[in-house]
Amino acid sequence: MNGEKRILLEYADKINPEKAEDYIKVGGYKGLEKARKMKPKQIIEEVKKSKLRGRGGAGFSTGMKWSFVPEHAPVKYVVCNLDEGEPGTYKDRIICEKNAQALLEGMAICALAIGAKKGYIYCRGEYPHIVRLLNNAIESAKKAGVLEDFDIEVRMGAGAYVCGEETALIESIEGKRGEPRFKPPFPGVEGLWGVPTVVNNVETFACIPYILTHGAEWFASIGAPDYPGTKVLTLTGDINNPTYFEVPTDYLLSDVIYKLGGGIKGGRKLKAVQVGGSSGAFIPPENIHTSIDFDSMSRIGASLGSGAVFVLDETRDIVDVATRIAKFFEHESCGKCNPCREGTFRMYEMMQRINAGRGSEEDLENILVLSRVMQKASLCGLGQAAPIPIETTIKHFREDYMRKLM
Ligand code: NAI
Repeated sequence: MNGEKRILLEYADKINPEKAEDYIKVGGYKGLEKARKMKPKQIIEEVKKSKLRGRGGAGFSTGMKWSFVPEHAPVKYVVCNLDEGEPGTYKDRIICEKNAQALLEGMAICALAIGAKKGYIYCRGEYPHIVRLLNNAIESAKKAGVLEDFDIEVRMGAGAYVCGEETALIESIEGKRGEPRFKPPFPGVEGLWGVPTVVNNVETFACIPYILTHGAEWFASIGAPDYPGTKVLTLTGDINNPTYFEVPTDYLLSDVIYKLGGGIKGGRKLKAVQVGGSSGAFIPPENIHTSIDFDSMSRIGASLGSGAVFVLDETRDIVDVATRIAKFFEHESCGKCNPCREGTFRMYEMMQRINAGRGSEEDLENILVLSRVMQKASLCGLGQAAPIPIETTIKHFREDYMRKLM
């Protein structure tokens, strides 16, 4: 046994995700049935009691987010964020490919809880097959009559990473250029077309049916007490078994690498692991005996984020890796705010210089100052997180940088 615990992926490859009947046969849509007999407030209380926290990366309490929606607003929306643009992250795609009906059920339960009649799934442009799959899944659920009067529409992005930021995503659905809005107001109060909107990630919604079916206490008892449940992880890089897994949230990062991942390719040593995709912190080998839950990751200066685990072996040039990441963010910055637009540009410029052996110690110190400015002053998560991989490689692998300086 490798310690995996499958809830969302229990019937992966055993049921057809497009067919509502397949899902119903294995207990699907029972949570929604239960929710229909509850008052909206009771549903929200149940989700709060489960202690489910957002699986998109930020770990915000889901029940709390739902409770922010003003009860008496005449129109409200449910929006699912399927724009996973974080390099190395593909867990939402897997959840759709294996269990799309759970996502639809979770959205329908949310709609009952907040009083919405319409939902949108915003899917990244790189996943055209998922758009087709979801449209078929929605059609099948409608035919089976399980969604009743809740309507779900799939919208497609066009490849901008920033559209995964919830307010840029909202702008994009509205047909505008995908740029983040100032927060507050948060979408729960003023979201899509200015009305209260719940935006949750695919994995977050997919947890909801199981919470309603088996009860909040059951969910809260799995994994880490303050970030309970399971987490779908995607494993990439210099690893023997680069694939996806669903584990309880108190699973150790070292076990992800050595048990699930089968260790480092070619029997080499681990250089570093980056958790949470390209915007995540780099973790040195001495810190990997840490539980993957949100708070344990924070305690070692990292973030679970989207659950992407990227492994680098001892032969990798970490300054070169960090330079490529800097290039990614320079390319993806939407340009709306100065700290991110200029910051990602200058960061990449200095990293290129250092990587090419033309950098100085002053560049290194300037990167660290710029990193602090970007984290504090950028408008959205893109600019706030962009310097983190760079800063953490300097923190843990300074000697690698020193070797490249002029
Ligand atoms: P955030 O912490 O600003 O917000 C998280 C959620 O909580 C949002 O839905 C926000 O509206 C809500 N919220 C926060 N404070 C609130 C308040 N006071 N009142 C009402 N609602 C409140 O984080 P953000 O910028 O939404 O997400 C950042 C995360 O996204 C990062 O941790 C990163 O890991 C993740 N990310 C994931 C990617 C992916 O592909 N899955 C890509 C890039 C980043």
